[in-house]
Amino acid sequence: MKYQEAIEKRRTFGIISHPDAGKTTLTEKLLLFGGAIQTAGAVKNNKIKKTATSDFMEIEKQRGISVATSVMAFGYKNKQINILDTPGHKDFAEDTFRTLTAVDSVILVIDCANGVEEQTEKLMEVCRMRKTPVIIFVNKMDRDGKESFDLLDELEQSLKIKVRPLTWPIGMGDFFQGVYNIYDKSLNLFSANKTKIEEDVHAIDDIQNKELDEMIGEDPAEELREELEMIEGVYDEFNRDEYLAGDIAPVFFGSAVNNFGVKELLDTFCEVSPSPRGRTTDLRSIEPQEDKFSGFVFKIHANLDPKHRDRIAFLRVVSGRFERNKFYQHIRLEKKMKFPNPTSFMAQDKSVIDYAYPGDVIGLYDTGNFKIGDTLTEGEKMMFKGIPSFSPEIFQELENLDPMKSKQLDKGIRQLIDEGVAQLFIQQPGNRKIVGTVGQLQFEVINYRLTHEYGAKCQFVAKNYFKACWITTDNVQQLESFMKAKYNLLARDKDDNLVFLAETPFLLQMAEQDYPDLTFHKTSEFMLDK
Ligand code: G4P
Repeated sequence: MKYQEAIEKRRTFGIISHPDAGKTTLTEKLLLFGGAIQTAGAVKNNKIKKTATSDFMEIEKQRGISVATSVMAFGYKNKQINILDTPGHKDFAEDTFRTLTAVDSVILVIDCANGVEEQTEKLMEVCRMRKTPVIIFVNKMDRDGKESFDLLDELEQSLKIKVRPLTWPIGMGDFFQGVYNIYDKSLNLFSANKTKIEEDVHAIDDIQNKELDEMIGEDPAEELREELEMIEGVYDEFNRDEYLAGDIAPVFFGSAVNNFGVKELLDTFCEVSPSPRGRTTDLRSIEPQEDKFSGFVFKIHANLDPKHRDRIAFLRVVSGRFERNKFYQHIRLEKKMKFPNPTSFMAQDKSVIDYAYPGDVIGLYDTGNFKIGDTLTEGEKMMFKGIPSFSPEIFQELENLDPMKSKQLDKGIRQLIDEGVAQLFIQQPGNRKIVGTVGQLQFEVINYRLTHEYGAKCQFVAKNYFKACWITTDNVQQLESFMKAKYNLLARDKDDNLVFLAETPFLLQMAEQDYPDLTFHKTSEFMLDK
Protein backbone atom coordinates (compact mmCIF):
# COMPACT_ATOMS: atom_id res chain seq x y z
CA MET A 1 0.00 0.00 0.00
CA LYS A 2 1.26 3.43 -0.83
CA TYR A 3 2.36 5.37 2.20
CA GLN A 4 0.25 8.45 1.50
CA GLU A 5 -2.82 6.28 0.94
CA ALA A 6 -2.24 4.48 4.23
CA ILE A 7 -2.27 7.80 6.09
CA GLU A 8 -5.29 9.17 4.24
CA LYS A 9 -7.51 6.22 5.13
CA ARG A 10 -6.83 6.25 8.84
CA ARG A 11 -9.24 7.75 11.35
CA THR A 12 -8.17 7.72 14.99
CA PHE A 13 -10.72 8.96 17.48
CA GLY A 14 -11.99 8.62 21.02
CA ILE A 15 -15.51 8.24 22.35
CA ILE A 16 -16.09 10.25 25.48
CA SER A 17 -19.07 10.62 27.75
CA HIS A 18 -20.29 10.90 31.28
CA PRO A 19 -20.63 7.36 32.71
CA ASP A 20 -23.83 5.60 31.63
CA ALA A 21 -24.57 7.85 28.66
CA GLY A 22 -23.94 4.88 26.35
CA LYS A 23 -20.28 4.97 25.33
CA THR A 24 -19.77 1.20 25.59
CA THR A 25 -22.99 0.50 23.74
CA LEU A 26 -22.11 2.89 20.93
CA THR A 27 -18.60 1.46 20.64
CA GLU A 28 -20.08 -1.97 20.27
CA LYS A 29 -22.47 -0.89 17.53
CA LEU A 30 -19.66 0.79 15.63
CA LEU A 31 -17.67 -2.44 15.80
CA LEU A 32 -20.73 -4.29 14.57
CA PHE A 33 -20.91 -2.04 11.51
CA GLY A 34 -17.22 -2.52 10.94
CA GLY A 35 -17.65 -6.29 11.04
CA ALA A 36 -15.12 -6.44 13.88
CA ILE A 37 -17.66 -8.31 16.01
CA GLN A 38 -20.61 -10.40 14.91
CA THR A 39 -23.09 -10.15 17.75
CA ALA A 40 -24.25 -7.45 20.09
CA GLY A 41 -23.05 -7.93 23.64
CA ALA A 42 -19.52 -8.86 22.66
CA VAL A 43 -17.85 -5.77 24.06
CA LYS A 44 -19.46 -6.15 27.44
CA ASN A 45 -18.74 -9.87 27.46
CA ASN A 46 -15.16 -9.08 26.79
CA LYS A 47 -15.13 -6.73 29.74
CA ILE A 48 -16.35 -9.50 31.99
CA LYS A 49 -13.86 -12.03 30.64
CA LYS A 50 -11.01 -9.67 31.33
CA THR A 51 -12.07 -9.11 34.90
CA ALA A 52 -12.19 -12.82 35.54
CA THR A 53 -8.55 -13.26 34.54
CA SER A 54 -7.12 -10.48 36.56
CA ASP A 55 -6.99 -9.58 40.18
CA PHE A 56 -6.47 -5.94 39.37
CA MET A 57 -9.49 -5.86 37.16
CA GLU A 58 -11.54 -7.31 39.99
CA ILE A 59 -11.71 -3.75 41.22
CA GLU A 60 -13.18 -2.73 37.94
CA LYS A 61 -15.80 -5.41 38.18
CA GLN A 62 -16.74 -4.49 41.70
CA ARG A 63 -17.04 -0.86 40.83
CA GLY A 64 -18.64 -1.40 37.47
CA ILE A 65 -16.33 1.04 35.78
CA SER A 66 -13.95 0.70 32.94
CA VAL A 67 -10.52 1.38 34.44
CA ALA A 68 -8.54 0.45 31.38
CA THR A 69 -8.21 2.30 28.13
CA SER A 70 -8.32 -0.02 25.18
CA VAL A 71 -7.85 0.39 21.47
CA MET A 72 -10.05 -1.17 18.84
CA ALA A 73 -9.36 -1.09 15.13
CA PHE A 74 -11.68 -1.99 12.27
CA GLY A 75 -12.24 -1.29 8.60
CA TYR A 76 -15.33 0.47 7.23
CA LYS A 77 -15.94 1.95 3.78
CA ASN A 78 -12.29 1.84 2.84
CA LYS A 79 -11.29 3.57 6.06
CA GLN A 80 -9.09 2.11 8.77
CA ILE A 81 -10.75 3.20 11.99
CA ASN A 82 -9.01 3.21 15.37
CA ILE A 83 -11.22 3.77 18.40
CA LEU A 84 -9.45 4.67 21.60
CA ASP A 85 -11.71 3.83 24.49
CA THR A 86 -11.49 5.95 27.61
CA PRO A 87 -12.52 5.30 31.18
CA GLY A 88 -15.68 7.19 32.01
CA HIS A 89 -15.11 7.33 35.76
CA LYS A 90 -14.01 10.75 36.92
CA ASP A 91 -11.27 9.40 39.15
CA PHE A 92 -9.53 8.28 35.99
CA ALA A 93 -9.99 11.59 34.21
CA GLU A 94 -6.26 12.09 33.83
CA ASP A 95 -6.05 8.82 31.93
CA THR A 96 -8.72 10.11 29.59
CA PHE A 97 -6.97 13.47 29.16
CA ARG A 98 -3.81 11.67 28.10
CA THR A 99 -5.71 9.46 25.67
CA LEU A 100 -7.14 12.60 24.11
CA THR A 101 -3.59 13.61 23.13
CA ALA A 102 -3.44 10.50 20.94
CA VAL A 103 -6.67 11.01 18.98
CA ASP A 104 -7.41 13.24 15.99
CA SER A 105 -11.10 13.71 16.73
CA VAL A 106 -13.77 12.82 19.26
CA ILE A 107 -17.33 11.55 19.39
CA LEU A 108 -19.12 12.85 22.46
CA VAL A 109 -22.10 10.84 23.70
CA ILE A 110 -24.87 12.68 25.57
CA ASP A 111 -27.85 11.13 27.33
CA CYS A 112 -30.91 12.99 25.99
CA ALA A 113 -32.53 13.01 29.44
CA ASN A 114 -29.48 14.11 31.44
CA GLY A 115 -28.03 16.54 28.93
CA VAL A 116 -24.57 17.91 29.65
CA GLU A 117 -23.16 16.36 32.82
CA GLU A 118 -20.14 17.34 34.90
CA GLN A 119 -17.71 14.91 33.33
CA THR A 120 -18.79 15.89 29.82
CA GLU A 121 -17.92 19.51 30.51
CA LYS A 122 -14.44 18.67 31.77
CA LEU A 123 -13.65 16.43 28.84
CA MET A 124 -14.90 19.03 26.42
CA GLU A 125 -12.62 21.60 28.03
CA VAL A 126 -9.63 19.45 27.10
CA CYS A 127 -10.95 19.08 23.53
CA ARG A 128 -11.36 22.84 23.25
CA MET A 129 -7.84 23.41 24.58
CA ARG A 130 -6.44 21.10 21.94
CA LYS A 131 -8.87 22.23 19.20
CA THR A 132 -9.97 18.63 18.69
CA PRO A 133 -12.88 18.27 16.22
CA VAL A 134 -15.98 16.95 17.99
CA ILE A 135 -19.13 15.19 16.75
CA ILE A 136 -21.99 14.91 19.26
CA PHE A 137 -24.30 11.88 19.45
CA VAL A 138 -27.47 12.44 21.48
CA ASN A 139 -28.34 8.99 22.75
CA LYS A 140 -31.36 7.22 24.25
CA MET A 141 -33.97 8.91 22.06
CA ASP A 142 -36.19 5.89 22.72
CA ARG A 143 -36.63 7.39 26.20
CA ASP A 144 -38.27 10.62 27.20
CA GLY A 145 -35.68 13.35 27.38
CA LYS A 146 -35.22 17.07 27.02
CA GLU A 147 -36.71 18.93 24.07
CA SER A 148 -34.22 18.76 21.21
CA PHE A 149 -33.93 22.53 20.72
CA ASP A 150 -33.43 23.04 24.47
CA LEU A 151 -30.78 20.37 24.41
CA LEU A 152 -28.94 22.09 21.56
CA ASP A 153 -28.97 25.37 23.53
CA GLU A 154 -27.62 23.55 26.55
CA LEU A 155 -24.86 21.98 24.46
CA GLU A 156 -23.81 25.36 23.09
CA GLN A 157 -23.84 27.06 26.44
CA SER A 158 -22.29 24.39 28.65
CA LEU A 159 -19.78 23.07 26.16
CA LYS A 160 -18.96 26.49 24.73
CA ILE A 161 -19.05 25.31 21.13
CA LYS A 162 -21.34 26.08 18.18
CA VAL A 163 -23.53 23.14 17.19
CA ARG A 164 -25.25 22.13 13.96
CA PRO A 165 -27.75 19.23 13.82
CA LEU A 166 -27.20 16.93 10.84
CA THR A 167 -30.03 14.56 11.73
CA TRP A 168 -33.26 15.49 13.47
CA PRO A 169 -35.44 13.27 15.67
CA ILE A 170 -39.12 12.69 15.05
CA GLY A 171 -40.71 12.46 18.49
CA MET A 172 -39.05 10.79 21.45
CA GLY A 173 -39.63 8.09 24.04
CA ASP A 174 -42.67 5.99 23.17
CA PHE A 175 -43.39 8.35 20.28
CA PHE A 176 -39.93 8.17 18.74
CA GLN A 177 -40.41 7.43 15.05
CA GLY A 178 -36.94 7.88 13.65
CA VAL A 179 -34.57 10.53 12.38
CA TYR A 180 -34.54 12.73 9.31
CA ASN A 181 -31.08 13.00 7.79
CA ILE A 182 -30.71 16.68 6.92
CA TYR A 183 -27.36 16.09 5.23
CA ASP A 184 -28.59 13.26 2.98
CA LYS A 185 -32.27 14.23 2.78
CA SER A 186 -33.55 10.84 3.83
CA LEU A 187 -35.81 9.41 6.48
CA ASN A 188 -34.72 6.53 8.70
CA LEU A 189 -37.66 4.90 10.46
CA PHE A 190 -37.14 3.53 13.94
CA SER A 191 -37.80 0.02 15.09
CA ALA A 192 -36.61 -1.15 18.50
CA ASN A 193 -34.17 -3.91 19.36
CA LYS A 194 -32.31 -4.15 16.13
CA THR A 195 -29.26 -6.26 16.66
CA LYS A 196 -28.26 -6.62 13.03
CA ILE A 197 -27.37 -4.02 10.50
CA GLU A 198 -30.61 -3.20 8.82
CA GLU A 199 -32.02 0.18 8.04
CA ASP A 200 -35.45 1.34 7.02
CA VAL A 201 -34.28 4.30 5.00
CA HIS A 202 -36.39 6.32 2.52
CA ALA A 203 -35.09 9.10 0.34
CA ILE A 204 -37.23 12.21 0.88
CA ASP A 205 -35.71 14.88 -1.35
CA ASP A 206 -38.55 17.26 -0.82
CA ILE A 207 -39.72 17.59 2.74
CA GLN A 208 -43.13 18.85 1.43
CA ASN A 209 -43.72 15.48 -0.22
CA LYS A 210 -46.98 13.91 0.98
CA GLU A 211 -45.23 10.56 1.24
CA LEU A 212 -43.80 11.84 4.51
CA ASP A 213 -47.31 12.24 5.99
CA GLU A 214 -48.12 8.69 5.03
CA MET A 215 -45.03 7.35 6.71
CA ILE A 216 -45.03 9.21 10.00
CA GLY A 217 -48.53 10.72 10.23
CA GLU A 218 -49.79 14.19 9.35
CA ASP A 219 -49.12 15.99 12.61
CA PRO A 220 -45.58 14.68 13.14
CA ALA A 221 -44.82 15.45 9.48
CA GLU A 222 -46.04 19.03 9.89
CA GLU A 223 -44.02 19.40 13.08
CA LEU A 224 -40.91 18.05 11.37
CA ARG A 225 -41.32 20.54 8.52
CA GLU A 226 -41.58 23.42 10.98
CA GLU A 227 -38.61 22.25 12.99
CA LEU A 228 -36.44 21.79 9.91
CA GLU A 229 -37.34 25.28 8.79
CA MET A 230 -36.33 26.58 12.19
CA ILE A 231 -33.02 24.72 12.03
CA GLU A 232 -32.22 26.30 8.67
CA GLY A 233 -33.08 29.71 10.11
CA VAL A 234 -31.19 29.42 13.38
CA TYR A 235 -28.10 27.34 12.67
CA ASP A 236 -25.37 28.08 10.15
CA GLU A 237 -24.77 25.62 7.32
CA PHE A 238 -22.45 22.81 8.28
CA ASN A 239 -18.95 23.80 7.32
CA ARG A 240 -16.27 21.10 7.43
CA ASP A 241 -13.41 23.54 7.93
CA GLU A 242 -15.09 24.99 11.00
CA TYR A 243 -15.59 21.46 12.33
CA LEU A 244 -11.94 20.58 11.68
CA ALA A 245 -10.88 23.75 13.50
CA GLY A 246 -12.90 22.62 16.53
CA ASP A 247 -15.30 25.58 16.21
CA ILE A 248 -18.52 23.74 15.39
CA ALA A 249 -19.83 20.32 16.40
CA PRO A 250 -22.27 18.44 14.16
CA VAL A 251 -25.04 16.74 16.17
CA PHE A 252 -26.71 13.36 15.56
CA PHE A 253 -29.67 11.83 17.36
CA GLY A 254 -30.27 8.13 17.91
CA SER A 255 -30.46 5.17 20.21
CA ALA A 256 -27.27 3.18 20.50
CA VAL A 257 -28.81 0.19 22.23
CA ASN A 258 -31.30 -0.10 19.38
CA ASN A 259 -28.56 0.40 16.83
CA PHE A 260 -30.45 3.36 15.55
CA GLY A 261 -28.94 6.50 14.07
CA VAL A 262 -25.51 4.95 14.41
CA LYS A 263 -25.00 4.36 10.68
CA GLU A 264 -25.68 8.03 9.89
CA LEU A 265 -23.14 8.93 12.51
CA LEU A 266 -20.50 6.53 11.23
CA ASP A 267 -21.03 7.41 7.55
CA THR A 268 -20.72 11.12 8.22
CA PHE A 269 -17.79 10.53 10.53
CA CYS A 270 -15.97 8.72 7.70
CA GLU A 271 -16.71 11.59 5.35
CA VAL A 272 -15.80 14.58 7.49
CA SER A 273 -13.43 13.52 10.26
CA PRO A 274 -9.74 14.32 9.92
CA SER A 275 -7.05 11.90 8.79
CA PRO A 276 -4.03 11.69 11.13
CA ARG A 277 -2.73 15.07 12.16
CA GLY A 278 0.76 16.15 13.07
CA ARG A 279 1.98 16.95 16.55
CA THR A 280 4.40 19.48 18.02
CA THR A 281 7.69 18.68 19.69
CA ASP A 282 10.06 20.87 21.70
CA LEU A 283 12.04 21.27 18.46
CA ARG A 284 9.52 21.64 15.63
CA SER A 285 6.16 20.48 14.27
CA ILE A 286 6.04 16.97 12.86
CA GLU A 287 3.77 16.14 9.93
CA PRO A 288 2.47 12.60 9.37
CA GLN A 289 3.79 12.57 5.78
CA GLU A 290 7.42 12.83 6.88
CA ASP A 291 9.60 9.84 5.90
CA LYS A 292 11.12 9.25 9.28
CA PHE A 293 9.23 7.44 12.01
CA SER A 294 8.30 9.19 15.26
CA GLY A 295 5.76 8.45 17.96
CA PHE A 296 4.95 8.92 21.64
CA VAL A 297 3.76 6.80 24.53
CA PHE A 298 0.47 8.03 26.01
CA LYS A 299 -0.52 5.10 28.16
CA ILE A 300 1.13 2.24 29.99
CA HIS A 301 -0.94 -0.72 30.95
CA ALA A 302 0.03 -3.29 33.54
CA ASN A 303 -0.13 -6.85 32.31
CA LEU A 304 -3.54 -8.28 33.01
CA ASP A 305 -1.92 -11.56 33.90
CA PRO A 306 -0.52 -11.11 37.43
CA LYS A 307 2.07 -13.85 36.84
CA HIS A 308 3.84 -11.63 34.35
CA ARG A 309 5.14 -8.32 35.52
CA ASP A 310 5.68 -6.88 32.04
CA ARG A 311 3.58 -4.05 30.77
CA ILE A 312 2.28 -2.74 27.49
CA ALA A 313 3.18 0.77 26.42
CA PHE A 314 0.65 2.29 24.00
CA LEU A 315 2.43 4.27 21.33
CA ARG A 316 0.77 6.58 18.82
CA VAL A 317 2.62 6.75 15.51
CA VAL A 318 2.93 10.39 14.48
CA SER A 319 5.07 10.25 11.32
CA GLY A 320 6.81 7.80 9.03
CA ARG A 321 6.40 4.05 9.10
CA PHE A 322 7.06 2.02 12.23
CA GLU A 323 8.78 -1.29 11.49
CA ARG A 324 9.09 -4.38 13.62
CA ASN A 325 12.67 -5.21 14.68
CA LYS A 326 14.10 -1.90 13.51
CA PHE A 327 16.19 0.12 15.98
CA TYR A 328 14.65 3.35 17.21
CA GLN A 329 15.99 6.01 19.55
CA HIS A 330 14.41 6.22 22.99
CA ILE A 331 14.98 9.95 23.49
CA ARG A 332 14.77 10.19 27.29
CA LEU A 333 16.96 7.17 27.95
CA GLU A 334 19.29 8.03 25.06
CA LYS A 335 19.37 4.45 23.92
CA LYS A 336 18.47 2.43 20.87
CA MET A 337 15.66 -0.09 21.17
CA LYS A 338 13.95 -2.53 18.81
CA PHE A 339 10.66 -4.31 19.23
CA PRO A 340 10.26 -7.91 18.12
CA ASN A 341 6.56 -8.21 19.05
CA PRO A 342 4.70 -4.95 18.49
CA THR A 343 0.95 -5.57 18.55
CA SER A 344 -2.06 -4.01 16.96
CA PHE A 345 -5.51 -4.24 18.48
CA MET A 346 -8.14 -5.53 16.10
CA ALA A 347 -11.26 -5.37 18.25
CA GLN A 348 -10.68 -7.97 20.95
CA ASP A 349 -7.73 -9.68 19.30
CA LYS A 350 -4.16 -8.62 19.64
CA SER A 351 -1.84 -9.56 16.81
CA VAL A 352 1.82 -8.96 16.03
CA ILE A 353 2.31 -6.44 13.25
CA ASP A 354 5.23 -5.72 10.92
CA TYR A 355 4.39 -2.11 10.14
CA ALA A 356 2.31 0.70 11.55
CA TYR A 357 1.41 4.06 10.03
CA PRO A 358 0.59 7.53 11.37
CA GLY A 359 -2.63 7.42 13.36
CA ASP A 360 -2.07 3.84 14.43
CA VAL A 361 -1.70 2.87 18.05
CA ILE A 362 0.58 -0.04 18.77
CA GLY A 363 1.34 -1.97 21.91
CA LEU A 364 5.00 -2.37 22.85
CA TYR A 365 5.98 -4.93 25.47
CA ASP A 366 7.87 -3.12 28.15
CA THR A 367 9.93 -4.27 31.06
CA GLY A 368 10.23 -0.85 32.63
CA ASN A 369 11.82 1.34 29.94
CA PHE A 370 8.84 3.54 29.27
CA LYS A 371 7.14 6.40 31.03
CA ILE A 372 4.10 8.29 29.84
CA GLY A 373 5.17 10.92 27.34
CA ASP A 374 8.28 9.11 26.08
CA THR A 375 9.24 9.74 22.46
CA LEU A 376 10.72 7.29 19.93
CA THR A 377 12.36 8.58 16.74
CA GLU A 378 14.83 7.47 14.10
CA GLY A 379 17.48 9.57 15.82
CA GLU A 380 16.26 13.18 15.88
CA LYS A 381 16.44 14.51 19.44
CA MET A 382 13.00 15.85 20.18
CA MET A 383 10.17 15.25 22.64
CA PHE A 384 6.49 15.43 21.80
CA LYS A 385 4.62 18.08 23.75
CA GLY A 386 1.19 18.19 25.23
CA ILE A 387 1.12 15.32 27.69
CA PRO A 388 1.38 17.34 30.86
CA SER A 389 0.80 16.24 34.41
CA PHE A 390 -1.96 18.21 36.05
CA SER A 391 -1.73 19.11 39.71
CA PRO A 392 -3.38 16.33 41.70
CA GLU A 393 -6.38 17.17 43.87
CA ILE A 394 -6.08 14.57 46.61
CA PHE A 395 -2.88 13.93 48.54
CA GLN A 396 -2.02 11.08 50.88
CA GLU A 397 1.19 9.98 52.49
CA LEU A 398 2.24 6.42 51.72
CA GLU A 399 3.43 4.64 54.84
CA ASN A 400 5.32 1.38 54.81
CA LEU A 401 3.88 -1.17 57.24
CA ASP A 402 6.53 -3.84 56.71
CA PRO A 403 10.17 -2.65 56.91
CA MET A 404 11.30 -5.96 55.37
CA LYS A 405 9.37 -5.09 52.22
CA SER A 406 10.51 -1.51 51.68
CA LYS A 407 12.39 -2.41 48.49
CA GLN A 408 9.26 -3.94 46.99
CA LEU A 409 7.23 -0.93 48.01
CA ASP A 410 9.76 1.45 46.46
CA LYS A 411 9.89 -0.44 43.20
CA GLY A 412 6.14 -0.92 43.07
CA ILE A 413 5.25 2.71 43.65
CA ARG A 414 7.82 3.92 41.09
CA GLN A 415 6.45 1.57 38.45
CA LEU A 416 2.88 2.63 39.13
CA ILE A 417 3.95 6.26 38.84
CA ASP A 418 5.56 5.53 35.44
CA GLU A 419 2.24 4.07 34.35
CA GLY A 420 0.60 7.37 35.22
CA VAL A 421 -1.65 5.91 37.93
CA ALA A 422 -0.71 8.75 40.29
CA GLN A 423 2.01 11.31 40.97
CA LEU A 424 4.68 10.96 43.59
CA PHE A 425 6.32 13.74 45.57
CA ILE A 426 9.22 13.06 47.90
CA GLN A 427 9.51 15.20 51.00
CA GLN A 428 12.61 15.65 53.09
CA PRO A 429 13.66 14.87 55.71
CA GLY A 430 12.84 11.19 55.88
CA ASN A 431 12.14 10.51 52.20
CA ARG A 432 8.42 10.76 52.85
CA LYS A 433 6.27 9.70 49.92
CA ILE A 434 3.30 11.92 49.16
CA VAL A 435 1.04 10.40 46.53
CA GLY A 436 -1.27 12.72 44.61
CA THR A 437 -4.25 11.74 42.44
CA VAL A 438 -7.37 13.28 40.93
CA GLY A 439 -9.67 10.72 42.56
CA GLN A 440 -10.02 8.66 45.71
CA LEU A 441 -10.37 5.44 43.77
CA GLN A 442 -6.75 5.47 42.65
CA PHE A 443 -5.55 5.03 46.24
CA GLU A 444 -7.50 1.81 46.44
CA VAL A 445 -6.12 0.66 43.11
CA ILE A 446 -2.56 1.51 44.21
CA ASN A 447 -2.91 -0.21 47.57
CA TYR A 448 -4.41 -3.27 45.93
CA ARG A 449 -1.70 -3.49 43.31
CA LEU A 450 1.17 -2.85 45.73
CA THR A 451 -0.14 -5.66 47.90
CA HIS A 452 -1.00 -8.16 45.15
CA GLU A 453 1.65 -7.48 42.53
CA TYR A 454 4.60 -6.41 44.65
CA GLY A 455 3.95 -8.10 47.98
CA ALA A 456 4.28 -4.80 49.85
CA LYS A 457 2.29 -3.75 52.89
CA CYS A 458 1.29 -0.14 53.22
CA GLN A 459 -1.34 2.35 54.24
CA PHE A 460 -2.35 5.84 53.17
CA VAL A 461 -2.68 8.78 55.52
CA ALA A 462 -4.66 11.79 54.30
CA LYS A 463 -2.83 15.09 53.83
CA ASN A 464 -4.54 18.43 53.63
CA TYR A 465 -2.93 19.91 50.54
CA PHE A 466 -4.86 21.83 47.97
CA LYS A 467 -2.49 21.80 45.00
CA ALA A 468 1.02 20.82 44.01
CA CYS A 469 2.65 23.63 42.05
CA TRP A 470 5.86 23.32 40.11
CA ILE A 471 8.15 26.28 40.77
CA THR A 472 10.36 28.10 38.27
CA THR A 473 12.30 31.34 38.60
CA ASP A 474 15.41 33.24 37.55
CA ASN A 475 15.66 34.90 40.95
CA VAL A 476 17.86 32.52 42.95
CA GLN A 477 17.83 34.70 46.06
CA GLN A 478 14.07 34.85 46.22
CA LEU A 479 13.88 31.11 45.67
CA GLU A 480 16.29 30.50 48.54
CA SER A 481 14.30 32.63 50.94
CA PHE A 482 11.06 30.91 49.83
CA MET A 483 12.64 27.51 50.39
CA LYS A 484 13.74 28.55 53.86
CA ALA A 485 10.32 29.85 54.82
CA LYS A 486 8.35 26.94 53.37
CA TYR A 487 10.76 24.04 53.84
CA ASN A 488 8.03 21.83 55.33
CA LEU A 489 5.79 22.32 52.28
CA LEU A 490 8.36 21.54 49.61
CA ALA A 491 8.84 18.29 47.75
CA ARG A 492 10.47 16.88 44.62
CA ASP A 493 8.53 15.20 41.82
CA LYS A 494 9.70 12.03 40.01
CA ASP A 495 12.07 14.07 37.82
CA ASP A 496 13.48 15.97 40.80
CA ASN A 497 11.62 19.19 40.00
CA LEU A 498 10.82 21.44 42.95
CA VAL A 499 7.15 21.44 43.96
CA PHE A 500 5.25 23.59 46.46
CA LEU A 501 2.45 21.77 48.31
CA ALA A 502 0.01 24.58 48.91
CA GLU A 503 -2.46 23.94 51.70
CA THR A 504 -5.23 26.31 50.61
CA PRO A 505 -6.01 28.59 47.66
CA PHE A 506 -5.42 31.53 49.97
CA LEU A 507 -1.95 30.38 51.02
CA LEU A 508 -1.04 29.83 47.37
CA GLN A 509 -2.18 33.35 46.56
CA MET A 510 -0.13 34.70 49.47
CA ALA A 511 2.96 32.87 48.23
CA GLU A 512 2.42 34.32 44.76
CA GLN A 513 2.16 37.82 46.24
CA ASP A 514 5.07 37.51 48.63
CA TYR A 515 7.41 35.96 46.07
CA PRO A 516 6.51 37.74 42.81
CA ASP A 517 9.53 36.44 40.91
CA LEU A 518 8.56 32.81 41.44
CA THR A 519 6.12 31.19 39.02
CA PHE A 520 3.80 28.54 40.44
CA HIS A 521 2.70 26.16 37.65
CA LYS A 522 -0.41 24.02 38.03
CA THR A 523 0.55 21.73 35.15
CA SER A 524 3.96 20.36 34.26
CA GLU A 525 3.67 21.46 30.62
CA PHE A 526 6.24 24.23 31.20
CA MET A 527 8.97 21.62 31.65
CA LEU A 528 8.90 20.87 27.95
CA ASP A 529 9.88 24.46 27.23
CA LYS A 530 12.94 24.35 29.43
P1 G4P B 1 -21.19 3.92 29.40
O1 G4P B 1 -20.25 3.02 28.66
O2 G4P B 1 -21.24 5.32 28.83
O3 G4P B 1 -21.04 3.94 30.87
O4 G4P B 1 -22.69 3.39 29.13
P2 G4P B 1 -23.22 1.98 28.62
O5 G4P B 1 -23.00 1.83 27.16
O6 G4P B 1 -22.71 0.90 29.52
O7 G4P B 1 -24.77 2.22 28.81
C1 G4P B 1 -25.35 2.50 30.07
C2 G4P B 1 -26.76 1.98 30.13
O8 G4P B 1 -27.57 2.66 29.16
C3 G4P B 1 -26.87 0.49 29.77
O9 G4P B 1 -27.93 -0.05 30.53
C4 G4P B 1 -27.28 0.51 28.32
O10 G4P B 1 -27.95 -0.65 27.91
C5 G4P B 1 -28.19 1.72 28.30
N1 G4P B 1 -28.33 2.32 26.96
C6 G4P B 1 -27.36 2.58 26.05
N2 G4P B 1 -27.90 3.12 24.94
C7 G4P B 1 -29.22 3.22 25.14
C8 G4P B 1 -30.33 3.69 24.36
O11 G4P B 1 -30.18 4.13 23.23
N3 G4P B 1 -31.57 3.62 24.94
C9 G4P B 1 -31.78 3.13 26.18
N4 G4P B 1 -33.02 3.10 26.64
N5 G4P B 1 -30.76 2.66 26.95
C10 G4P B 1 -29.51 2.71 26.44
P3 G4P B 1 -27.64 -0.92 31.82
O12 G4P B 1 -28.98 -1.32 32.34
O13 G4P B 1 -26.73 -0.19 32.74
O14 G4P B 1 -26.85 -2.14 31.26
P4 G4P B 1 -27.37 -3.35 30.40
O15 G4P B 1 -27.80 -4.34 31.41
O16 G4P B 1 -28.49 -2.88 29.54
O17 G4P B 1 -26.18 -3.79 29.62
